[in-house]
Amino acid sequence: MNEKHLSGLSRREFLSAAAVTVAAGVIGAPSILHGAVKHELPKLPYAENALEPVISAKTMSFHYGKHHKAYVDNLNKLTANTEYADMSLERIIKATAGKPDKAGIFNNAAQVWNHSFYWNSLKPKGGGKPKGKLMAAIESSFGNFDKFAAEFSNAAVTQFGSGWAWLVKDDGKLKITKTSNAETPLIQGIMPLLTIDVWEHAYYLDYQNRRPDYVAAVINKLMNWSFAEDHLG
Ligand SMILES: [Fe+2]
Repeated sequence: MNEKHLSGLSRREFLSAAAVTVAAGVIGAPSILHGAVKHELPKLPYAENALEPVISAKTMSFHYGKHHKAYVDNLNKLTANTEYADMSLERIIKATAGKPDKAGIFNNAAQVWNHSFYWNSLKPKGGGKPKGKLMAAIESSFGNFDKFAAEFSNAAVTQFGSGWAWLVKDDGKLKITKTSNAETPLIQGIMPLLTIDVWEHAYYLDYQNRRPDYVAAVINKLMNWSFAEDHLG
């Protein structure tokens, strides 16, 4: 996975790749965590400047190159020589959720997963309206596209403090949900279809305090509908 763009992966492959950590040792650079699993920063599915002007290359450089990378690095440090050392990313998230003494591991693991999912929820020249079965599912679940977009936007804008807005499929129906900090629908056994990161690091360089403008631009211009549709099942 580390050699492959996520954009070239199907949803099933993404989930598998995101959940299953890479075997010990980057190619040509054996891990010092002998016998353990080394989590890796997945390659961005597009260039850092590909989402401009909605999200600047500078934001991407910090968000992906600093924040996402730090979560990966922290996770490797925190899990080294622990019971989590040989677990996949998804297993770590589920095993540490709701355990205050494991909050550091959970937060970093969930943030690694959430960010990988977020990059794939966006694409250059995305947005507009979905087609086919995803549009049919949206109309069936929300009434029409505009109602869906308003609900998604509202969840993202009203999430108090840091967190995420999600489009999920739950019980055969599409729903909007939001989570705080590193929390993810995964821990409830719910698979997301799309997400929007509303931590300030996602938009502050470009939009300062105007989170609603960032959310509107992401929904209108960057949503990767095909990524969501691949996973409708
Ligand atoms: Fe983020």
